[in-house]
Amino acid sequence: MTVTHEPRKDEDIQSLADAGVAVHDCRRCPLYQQATQAVFGEGPDDAAIVFVGEQPGDQEDLQGRPFVGPAGQVLDDAIKKIGIDRRRVYVTNAVKHFKFTPRGKRRIHQRPDGGEIQACKFWLDLEIGFIKPKVVVALGATAARSLLGKAGITISKLRGHPMQMSDGTMLFVTNHPSYLLRIPDAESKRREREKFEADLAQIRDMMGKIEKLQPMHGNA
Ligand code: URA
Repeated sequence: MTVTHEPRKDEDIQSLADAGVAVHDCRRCPLYQQATQAVFGEGPDDAAIVFVGEQPGDQEDLQGRPFVGPAGQVLDDAIKKIGIDRRRVYVTNAVKHFKFTPRGKRRIHQRPDGGEIQACKFWLDLEIGFIKPKVVVALGATAARSLLGKAGITISKLRGHPMQMSDGTMLFVTNHPSYLLRIPDAESKRREREKFEADLAQIRDMMGKIEKLQPMHGNA
């Protein structure tokens, strides 16, 4: 990705790379104060699929990259299992800074609130606007809330039912991979993992053959 110039103001952001630089100065909500850094999305700027999680976790906050911790491993495994190349998808989050409560040496994840999600939608809109994917996948309720612009999302009601967003992009909603990590019982975990993979397979099938999961847009 090439940064065309040093983006100082919103109007200076002319590319995905510009946005990825400008996000580090984001003061749209207070979350920047506590986090190590902003974590922008990662992947090709012409990806056909954009996966949207909630916010960076502990590992992501430290490394500055999305989905590199345990939830990222679950996502990677599922993506790989259904035959999509992770290097061809773009992964990002609804909120770009890690929200947490310190507890001793640990940092306990806190769910972002509506104001934080709304403030950070600026960045998510830029990412989707520059990439112009065919499909956006909301991983969990926070991502769905951001993309649908409403609270009170029930994943079980929305999953399996692709929706069309106002710009024509298809939106799929499924569980967040960290949900799978929290299920204590092995049998339930296996069942939920299968459902998660089935959701991703539905997306893959809807988009046609895996070979077609490649650039559809010539945007720079
Ligand atoms: N959970 C998320 O929602 N996003 C990440 O990047 C990591 C964990």
